[in-house]
Amino acid sequence: MTTNSDAATRFDPRNRCKLVVLISGSGSNLQSFIDNTETGQLNAEISAVFSNRPNATGLDRASEAHIPTEIVDHTLHKSRDDFDAQLMQRIDQYTPDLVILAGFMRILTPGFVKHFNGRLLNIHPSLLPKYPGLQTHQRAIDAGDHEAGATVHFVTEQLDGGPPIVQAAINIEKDDDAETLANRILTKEHLIYPLAAQWFAEGRLHLEGEFAVLDNEKLPNKGYQFSG
Ligand code: GRF
Repeated sequence: MTTNSDAATRFDPRNRCKLVVLISGSGSNLQSFIDNTETGQLNAEISAVFSNRPNATGLDRASEAHIPTEIVDHTLHKSRDDFDAQLMQRIDQYTPDLVILAGFMRILTPGFVKHFNGRLLNIHPSLLPKYPGLQTHQRAIDAGDHEAGATVHFVTEQLDGGPPIVQAAINIEKDDDAETLANRILTKEHLIYPLAAQWFAEGRLHLEGEFAVLDNEKLPNKGYQFSG
């Protein structure tokens, strides 16, 4: 078990890492976590999958893998605080070591983020710090960028602004549109997100203040550059 204090949290790898995954949509990143836990490349167990949307297709992926699913429908809550409090309470019942945001399309309140400080990861489809927010692929194309990619990062109160852990870049081709680019980046997401979780499960990765630390070294401000 890790703590939820502001102090640095480091997972004890003598334990098996328990994950809770939060989704809103297709759940292809969730599927990569399921596949990697099944092959043992990710030495962790997925205790539950949460969705804020009752019809998220990712819920079917979880059910097929016999993982408990929970729906906390944001439309049934009167405020963001109310929704996050309920979500937090239901997640805590699984006592996760790490909470994985995998296409979870909600802005989280400071209270939620603080509660899971050091054990809350997100993946964002851009080379952060470029293009936080939405429409990342189109923005990269419109800017005439030569490359785009995805970043796994610790979540802090700043939207898509927490310390990067690992980043994968691909070239933007002349005939790319937002959809083709997004699809190619997704294949990289499926590699780097379970990798970051595995580092955490091995006790090699933790958050220390404003920095992501891997193997006792502060990671650079764009994270580890993945080249696989
Ligand atoms: C991914 O592009 C991820 O980077 C972003 O939301 C998308 C989720 O896709 N945060 P999926 O639901 O995992 O297929």
